[in-house]
Amino acid sequence: MDRIRIRGGRDLSGDVRISGSKNSSLPILAATLLVDGPVLLRNVPDLKDIDNMCRILRHLGVRNYRNDDGSLFLEVEDSSARCAPYDLVRTMRASFVVLGPLWAKRGEARVSHPGGCVLGHRPVDLHVKGLRAIGAQIVVDAGYIDIGGPVRGGTVFLGGNYGSTVLGTANVLMAAALGQGRTIIENAAMEPEIEDLCNFLNACGARISGIGGHCLVVEGVERLHGCEHEIIPDRIEAATYMVGALMTNSPVMIESVKPGHMLAVLDRLQAAGAQLEVGRDYVRNVPTADGRIRAVDVTTLPYPGFPTDIQAQFMALMTRADGVSVITEKVYPERFMHASELARLGASIRREGPSAIIQGTPNLSGAPVMASDLRASASLVLAGLVANGHTDVRRVYHIDRGYERIEQKLQRLGADIERITEG
Ligand code: EPU
Repeated sequence: MDRIRIRGGRDLSGDVRISGSKNSSLPILAATLLVDGPVLLRNVPDLKDIDNMCRILRHLGVRNYRNDDGSLFLEVEDSSARCAPYDLVRTMRASFVVLGPLWAKRGEARVSHPGGCVLGHRPVDLHVKGLRAIGAQIVVDAGYIDIGGPVRGGTVFLGGNYGSTVLGTANVLMAAALGQGRTIIENAAMEPEIEDLCNFLNACGARISGIGGHCLVVEGVERLHGCEHEIIPDRIEAATYMVGALMTNSPVMIESVKPGHMLAVLDRLQAAGAQLEVGRDYVRNVPTADGRIRAVDVTTLPYPGFPTDIQAQFMALMTRADGVSVITEKVYPERFMHASELARLGASIRREGPSAIIQGTPNLSGAPVMASDLRASASLVLAGLVANGHTDVRRVYHIDRGYERIEQKLQRLGADIERITEG
């Protein structure tokens, strides 16, 4: 199993080009199930999660391959399959997002219930509620969700105790695109990845309005046609490198980003002392004279609030701050597995319910650590960049799910980082 070894203490400098968004690509890939004709997607990152979704789509009759220029071609060849089995869905929770398109296009579907994961209990009740509101007949049987009935359209409020649901909004949107009538999604997720999905669907002939807002209106159409589409930059990858630049007080230019998608993160980084030069499609970290990081509090919230997917990386940053900070997780209250691994590097972190209280320290010391999930592994790599000695991050398959060539990108910036492959 591969490990990533980082020898801390190097200054970084240079530029890093941000890849296309994983969380935008995944639902858009699933949406190709709805389309008659070829689809060409640009800027789809080369990641394990993308490979997994492509494999699931092949199982569902969607031919797909990468062209030499990196674009991804997809076309439905055989629409007889209706089932996404447990073995495929369990490898990646996001594959549950094939449920809406399979139902709308093929009339019925059977998709494995994804279950929980390391982030905690992750129910799909809002997906089910949303799909039922637009006509779905749903039965949960032997770990599977069976869905059928006509897609009629209707009105649904998609809010839950933790805000709206990103993939739940995607599931309802995609089904409603081929619905018989009008669908109104109140309290829809407003994440840029949902906006990208809406833009993709409209480019295929869907009629969605209210894009980017909390109320989406979908007028169902009879069919969708193929299109070409470019995936938005990955705001979480970009924010991860920004945290790294601030932690190492380094002149790093983060390119090919949409700063408008990251306002909450930029705000918290600046509050922590970052001097940022923000352009139309770049953010540059300007080193400060003292390299001091201020302790700031952060609460994760649905977009446009501070993203839960940057919480672990921000915690790594706060382990180096002057003073005490409180990080409160309002999206996944159990998402703190990285805290005990950061503690192995010498961080002082205390849990209080959905909050972590971090006492900053000037010195972290390298140690072997275990990645528990994608963003946790990124936080451990960041901590490794500033820890004394070397840090070995194990279970790096998590990081390969969501960070394209992370060790090459960091090497290019001057980090001492390598991947160690073990037989
Ligand atoms: N929730 C419910 N019921 C539901 C669905 C969600 O109670 O039916 C709750 C969840 O348990 C959670 C909150 O609502 O407390 C938000 O969950 P959401 O459904 O929005 O998450 P998701 O759509 O399954 C996506 C991202 C996650 C990201 C979350 C929140 C993808 C593929 N995944 O998941 O990304 O953390 O939104 O922003 O888009 C990651 O990339 O590392 C990752 C975990």
